[in-house]
Amino acid sequence: MSSIPQKIEALRKKLQHHEHLYYVLDAPAISDAEYDAMIRELQALETAHPDLITDDSPTQRVGGKPREGFVKVAHSSPMLSLDNALNEIELRDFDRRVRDLLGAEDFAYVAELKLDGLSLAVRYRDGKLAEAVTRGDGATGEDVTENARTIRSIPFRAPAEEVRGEVVFIRKAFDKLNDERAAAGLPLFANPRNAAAGSLRVLDPAVTASRRLDYFSYYLVPAPPTQHQTLEQLNEMGFKVNPNWRRCDDIEALAAFCKEWEQKRDSLPYEIDGVVAKVDSLEQQRRLGWRHKAPRWAIAFKFPARQEETVVLDIGVNVGRTGTLTPGAFFRPVNVGGVMVSKATLHNEDEVERLGIQIGDTVLVERAGDVIPHVVRVVKQGDHRRPFRMPTACPICGGEIVRAEGEAASRCINISCPARLRESILHWAARGVMNIDGMGEALVDQLVDKALVKNVADLYALKFDDLAKLERMGKKSAEKVLANIDASRRASLPRILNGLGIPFVGERTGQFLAEAFGDLDKIAAAGEVELQHAEEVGPKVSRSIHQFFQEKHNHALIEQLRAAGFNFTHAVKKRAGGPLQGMTLVLTGTLPGLAREEAKLRIETAGGKVAGSVSKKTSYLVAGEEAGSKLDKARELGVAVIDEARLLAMIGDAAG
Ligand code: IVH
Repeated sequence: MSSIPQKIEALRKKLQHHEHLYYVLDAPAISDAEYDAMIRELQALETAHPDLITDDSPTQRVGGKPREGFVKVAHSSPMLSLDNALNEIELRDFDRRVRDLLGAEDFAYVAELKLDGLSLAVRYRDGKLAEAVTRGDGATGEDVTENARTIRSIPFRAPAEEVRGEVVFIRKAFDKLNDERAAAGLPLFANPRNAAAGSLRVLDPAVTASRRLDYFSYYLVPAPPTQHQTLEQLNEMGFKVNPNWRRCDDIEALAAFCKEWEQKRDSLPYEIDGVVAKVDSLEQQRRLGWRHKAPRWAIAFKFPARQEETVVLDIGVNVGRTGTLTPGAFFRPVNVGGVMVSKATLHNEDEVERLGIQIGDTVLVERAGDVIPHVVRVVKQGDHRRPFRMPTACPICGGEIVRAEGEAASRCINISCPARLRESILHWAARGVMNIDGMGEALVDQLVDKALVKNVADLYALKFDDLAKLERMGKKSAEKVLANIDASRRASLPRILNGLGIPFVGERTGQFLAEAFGDLDKIAAAGEVELQHAEEVGPKVSRSIHQFFQEKHNHALIEQLRAAGFNFTHAVKKRAGGPLQGMTLVLTGTLPGLAREEAKLRIETAGGKVAGSVSKKTSYLVAGEEAGSKLDKARELGVAVIDEARLLAMIGDAAG
């Protein structure tokens, strides 16, 4: 048997290894659930033995409390900026200057991607993360250590003095964040860079932790003799280094690298705005020196901006799958970095108001990667500008539009609205929902237009002949789609719940509902309060679910799906947990043999959960001496009350 400290250290090592695989190398070796189980095990041990908690434990990523403000810190050496080359001519000018200054000497460049985020210096003391400081004005920055600690690609331990790099926001996470903010009626971030800055410079580290930030490093002290060795060493130390760098022997290779990445920039999951070229040898860098505030040994080759001005011709609304009306602007088409842009989403009424945008205005439009273009700001108000008004009737079906109190979105409440139908089918068929491969927009449009499908259940009545006669549909693909539709009848209850498109119910909530009720019919019959027995289901979500199942058309849909062969029951999986698996216990009073934390650890180790207060969901109240109001509450609710001995017997640990 290993001792507790040994156990803790072994867990930390394992967790650090898997965090490195996941966050730095993007190559996870275990599932999220396995990782979660491990971190919970460590947390439980640390809670039981608080004296063994160290600053660099993987559990301590989000330990910090919100602060009052940021402290200014001087940089060890200035964090300066780079001169720009806006085209190939300027890039070649830079190369000529370098060659002139170095005379006949041989040299090489290291070309790196210019990540569009914000730079951050991270200091280590005795191999441990000590301080993280933003660039600020270059001479002094702000201490954001607590926030930086939540970024998993910044190791807690490293044999370095200082590392510098760029904090970036993954584009997908950015879209998701803005969607959530739009739904919550919060102001949106203009681009991933602003979102990264906004997430790093918040007072509460928990907010930073909730955002998916990444850190790519490119600077190291103490430095090896060359930049390419810096990158290699950073990599070996466990830092995330952007893999897309190249040592270039001459300007031709460098120019080719720049061209190549200008083409490929959209293929990356994060934003880049150019290429940084650095003279590889640090000795040569030193001799080239600095001019004004930028080094002579490096240059930023900037890609053309992907912002253009254009005129708003109209503002309309799009009706989504859940009936949400999303305002969108139509522009005079404009070429933004090689792509013609003629429309952009405006998210919701609040965003329209925030931008102050009206029909006839000239606006600045930005495109980032494959993200839908968005309006940055109004640059000039139109002479005959007209405001946008949210329609009172659905533009597609004429149905009633409702904006619920406290919600940012207006919705069409007619479930059979054709606009909702198209989106509902696409959602139903999507990856991770029903996985009906081949059921793309082109096919769904035809099915809806030809009235072959009036709701998602109609998909299960489609015949080979229905599909084979459609445009762009060969015999083979028709057969494949039919087979995929057929296979989807075996979808699990959480996926069915997700597929139905109930506002606020995705797969996660679907999972909780399925676990709590075990059967779609029970969910459909449940009242609003009863629905809240499911985890994470509060009043807003339960109202939405209840409303959905009250609707006549939706009832009919469920019956049609049942007839199509769907299974609405959910086998509650017995996980290989312990004897308390699935149970929630509450502790109260003083137990004779076990300290509170110890009892908690035992319960969790046996697969149970410990909650702070008694509710109908409580399985047992474990009461010790001087139990107070929790005991009364448990009696009132009819929750079973047990003592320590009984608890230990249940866990199979009578010795205590
Ligand atoms: S090196 C002496 N390398 O671009 C300058 N900077 O305009 C050292 N940046 O403030 C900077 N990616 O925030 C360097 N691979 C990269 C970079 C990079 C992005 C940012 C950085 C810097 C700005 C320079």
